[in-house]
Amino acid sequence: MRSIDIESHQIALLLLFFVASLFSTRAASRCSNDGSVVRNITEIPSSNYGRDGLSHITIAGAVAHGMKEVEVWLQTFAPGTRTPIHRHSCEEVFVVLKGAGTLLLGSSSSKYPGQPQEFKIHANSTFTVPINDPHQVWNTGEHEDLQMLVIISRPPVKIFIYEDWSMPHVAAKLKFPYYWDQDCLDSPKDEL
Ligand SMILES: *[C@@H]1O[C@H](CO)[C@@H](O)[C@H](O)[C@H]1NC(C)=O
Ligand SMILES: *[C@@H]1O[C@H](CO)[C@@H](O)[C@H](O)[C@H]1NC(C)=O
Repeated sequence: MRSIDIESHQIALLLLFFVASLFSTRAASRCSNDGSVVRNITEIPSSNYGRDGLSHITIAGAVAHGMKEVEVWLQTFAPGTRTPIHRHSCEEVFVVLKGAGTLLLGSSSSKYPGQPQEFKIHANSTFTVPINDPHQVWNTGEHEDLQMLVIISRPPVKIFIYEDWSMPHVAAKLKFPYYWDQDCLDSPKDEL
């Protein structure tokens, strides 16, 4: 009786993994290294994570690849698209590779971000976002994609999202794990 229970338990588990693997093949390929030392970025799968006009690739990540101190993304925004207004308590460095846009930077020292400062950015611009400063990056161009290499410290990122610039810091909503990290955590390979 006991061994039959274990067997059916195991069969149920196997079935579960089989079904889960059908749905997770794409996520798993985004969320693991194939073991090569040098990888071709063009061949790393990208996703828009449900946001029109976004292409995100985690080049090297905490959840996806076991990075401990930094994480690197390649992000492309179609004309007119933007990040949410958000903050995080890690350092962030941007290198603009292609296109042009606008950086909006609010304040972390008053109760809410307030009227943001505006900075024009373009290919070969680089900027850093101070820890906890609310910010947003827009592709304000009409024709060209805005492509950026983004480096953050202290991964995986804990992002607080604001609805607008007058929302109090304490009301900003935590999204953790963030969409691309969640995608990798959901992958059954990481649970084995
Ligand atoms: C990288 O991958 C792309 C797409 O498969 C290919 O066209 C390109 O030649 C590759 N580059 C190198 C250096 O292998
Ligand atoms: C970016 O800067 C480098 C170094 O000065 C230069 O070689 C390159 O042409 C620049 N690219 C653009 C798009 O301005």
